[in-house]
Amino acid sequence: MRRNVKNSLSAVFSAQSENESLARVMAAGFLLPHPVTAEELADIKTALSEAVTNALVHGYREMEGGRVKVDFCLFSDGRVRITVTDHGHGIEDVERAREPFFTTDRAHERGGMGFSIMETFMDRVRVKSVLGRSTRVVLEKRLSLWK
Ligand SMILES: Nc1ncnc2c1ncn2[C@@H]1O[C@H](COP(=O)(O)OP(=O)(O)OP(=O)(O)O)[C@@H](O)[C@H]1O
Ligand SMILES: [Mg+2]
Repeated sequence: MRRNVKNSLSAVFSAQSENESLARVMAAGFLLPHPVTAEELADIKTALSEAVTNALVHGYREMEGGRVKVDFCLFSDGRVRITVTDHGHGIEDVERAREPFFTTDRAHERGGMGFSIMETFMDRVRVKSVLGRSTRVVLEKRLSLWK
């Protein structure tokens, strides 16, 4: 394990909607042994759930057999980093996709607020996407009670 890494967990699951709640449970299981506040855990679960939902509904839209990878990492300075990766459609214009209310899915009455929610609840959100290939969302937050 890298020296500045306290703990890590990687999971790959099928692109099925029930696995969104599985990802939330994994976040809780990973963080609860550590000094995380109830509010921080709720924030992280909410942000993670938005990223996983995006991978399921946009990444693998009308695609069969997709898989989503979630990597959790807790660094020894109390930073949590969660990476959500899909190998689906990709995002044409990431900057635009991150704007509040931007959605490509009006048909299902989506609000275009997922990225804004991730940004509100996390310290840092990075998005890397290759059109037609993959999308990776990196969520970071520092635990306030960490010593
Ligand atoms: N993993 C992904 N793969 C492909 N496109 C994505 C992915 N994540 C986001 N997008 C694109 O970015 C847009 C904005 O995402 P965002 O989560 O902010 O809003 P939304 O999912 O459309 O609506 P909401 O999250 O409010 O239900 C999406 O409509 C979609 O076009
Ligand atoms: Mg969304």
